[in-house]
Amino acid sequence: MSLQPIHHTFGPHVSGRYARKADRLLLTPWTWKHTVETERLRSAIQEQFGGSVHLFASGREALLALLRSLQFEQGAEIIVQGFTCVALPNAIHAAGYTPVYVDIDKETLNMDTQALQGRISNRTRAIICQHTFGIPADTARLRHICTEKHIILIEDCAHILPDKAGPDAIARQGDYLLLSLNRDKALSGMTGGAIVDCKRSRENALCTEEKTALPLRRGHIARLLLYAPLYRKTRFVYGLCGLGKMLLFLSRKVGLLLPVLTAQEKEGTMSPQLHTMPEPCAALARMEWPNLQAINSHRRARTAQYLAAAAERGWKMPRGVQADLPLQKFPLYVEDADAIRTRLKQKGMYLDDGWTGAVVCPRSAHQETANYTAGSCPHAEYVARHILTLPTHPTTTEKQAKKLIQSLSSLLG
Ligand SMILES: Cc1ncc(COP(=O)(O)O)c(C=O)c1O
Repeated sequence: MSLQPIHHTFGPHVSGRYARKADRLLLTPWTWKHTVETERLRSAIQEQFGGSVHLFASGREALLALLRSLQFEQGAEIIVQGFTCVALPNAIHAAGYTPVYVDIDKETLNMDTQALQGRISNRTRAIICQHTFGIPADTARLRHICTEKHIILIEDCAHILPDKAGPDAIARQGDYLLLSLNRDKALSGMTGGAIVDCKRSRENALCTEEKTALPLRRGHIARLLLYAPLYRKTRFVYGLCGLGKMLLFLSRKVGLLLPVLTAQEKEGTMSPQLHTMPEPCAALARMEWPNLQAINSHRRARTAQYLAAAAERGWKMPRGVQADLPLQKFPLYVEDADAIRTRLKQKGMYLDDGWTGAVVCPRSAHQETANYTAGSCPHAEYVARHILTLPTHPTTTEKQAKKLIQSLSSLLG
């Protein structure tokens, strides 16, 4: 077993440079009340996507701000796809609306536009399309449907931010774009989220949501920043006599590490209180923004590497996976995904990313409270059972990917 784990969740964006910046920010708490970096980040996002940009402490809060600003009637239906994160239905519920699930196409992991037609009702007000793991959804078709039925299209770009090389299908058709800057997303500020109001149609209402948002507590921000140096150091000693594991266990125990989803969120509750984008997190995201092309190139290289190996060995995967996509993670279909993950874990490869075992992820999320009815999205249920994802994030090296492929070869044949 090698010392450094192969992983999805041990600080995927945390390079040495990233950790040093987080360290500096941690040591200069008096700068946290400024808004210079937040405004610079806003300008960078606006320069890329246009429209008006509204920043919040997370993607889920940004989505809640948008849904509230749209002022639909109570109980209005918002369509999401099966195989999604519980953060989405939670935000929909917190806004007073009802999430409705549409099954996915197993070849793209995205909303099946045929199945969608049967789920649109006279209460449908918006569709959130996800671009799962960076595979582009059929936005042209979705745009057509939304225009025809007078429904709002929200493109969720949490898993992919397009760059100059594309993909062109992303971030062009939506009325609104949702961005997440969480620690495992396309680009990371440790936390943060944005709504791009492409036509500036709810600009005033979104500005009001932003102005009435509260700052996160300083202790919370400190723990967000601490995540970077902690994981960076832990990664180096992870395989060393359980030292890294112990360090992480203790950090969690004493509350130094914040979970991505709280127990309440997994049970389907989200606070209606919004928070502002923390300035140091904006500083991290702003430092990363000019590197988007390089981050995506790295993801494209890992995607192409896995794709070549999978094609050569006849591994099953969604057909929507293409070598030129900067995938957030690379999906495979395997017979007993849980068993394979357990076997890989014994070799220091941690592939449980939370996107397994349930239609509303993670599997510990309460499915019924999230309004998911078992059996209503059979393809999403199939995917949840069979998916195995491989890391493409900026700190996965070519050598690690090669090692993972070798281990998988002996497990999958
Ligand atoms: C597809 C998708 N959209 C939105 C979100 C919410 O983003 P955030 O974690 O920044 O709240 C998540 C994950 O949490 C997600 O996976």
